[in-house]
Amino acid sequence: MTTYRLMMLGPPGAGKGTQAKRLAERFEIPHVSTGDMLRQARRKGTELGKKAAEYMNAGKLVPDEVVIGIVRDRLSEDDAEGGFILDGFPRTRPQAEALTEMGIELDAVVNVVVSDDEVVKRLGGRISCPNCGAVYHKEYNPPAEDDKCDACGQEGLITRDDDKPEAIRSRLSGYHEKTAPLIEYYEAQGALKNIDGESAPDEVTEAIVEELEAN
Ligand code: AP5
Repeated sequence: MTTYRLMMLGPPGAGKGTQAKRLAERFEIPHVSTGDMLRQARRKGTELGKKAAEYMNAGKLVPDEVVIGIVRDRLSEDDAEGGFILDGFPRTRPQAEALTEMGIELDAVVNVVVSDDEVVKRLGGRISCPNCGAVYHKEYNPPAEDDKCDACGQEGLITRDDDKPEAIRSRLSGYHEKTAPLIEYYEAQGALKNIDGESAPDEVTEAIVEELEAN
């Protein structure tokens, strides 16, 4: 099986997590999501989690040095040696430079392209499982049984704190200011693959795989 060092880029709600989970399964590589790692730290109430919570709940980026440290530790674990898929990192120019300083060269940067209007619709309807983290959408991808997780059976799906309208607006403006410039950065390195993220999830997955396998 071909292995990859991949990164998902795109605005909040573009479907990065949805696609990263599928690609991780397909290529048998770990899914490294900074959002998931920070939410786990927040749930456990660690010092890191408490610090991160202030930023996350307001829809702001957690300081670079905090996130860079977490990713450095995670990528030095054995299972990431043969490849990985980064979801939510890097998100700023200093984070991208730190990744290069770690000696990591990405095979591809998958840029999931969706409009701001679509982002607002997706995040406004997102619900997730507090137990296993599975992600649904009230309208586009509802669970089979109302309010119950298909994957683990947990009842009581939840809305993320940062999916409230004010936090969504703040995340979108942070994305345009700090993360969107990375599109040009990775394009200049020849690593960027633009993918239309507005079609159905299966179609998006196939478009990504096709693009990766064409190279
Ligand atoms: P993070 O968890 O990374 O949030 P995000 O980038 O804002 O991305 P989301 O998880 O909101 O969306 P997604 O693109 O994964 O979409 P999803 O697949 O869920 O980060 C959270 C916070 O942590 C940040 O705001 C920041 O505070 C902090 N943080 C994390 N990393 C950081 C870093 N590197 N530096 C600093 N701070 C950091 O899909 C969204 C919805 O759409 C779902 O309901 C889904 O079912 C639905 N959907 C998905 N695909 C489709 C489709 N094709 N069609 C229709 N619906 C779809």
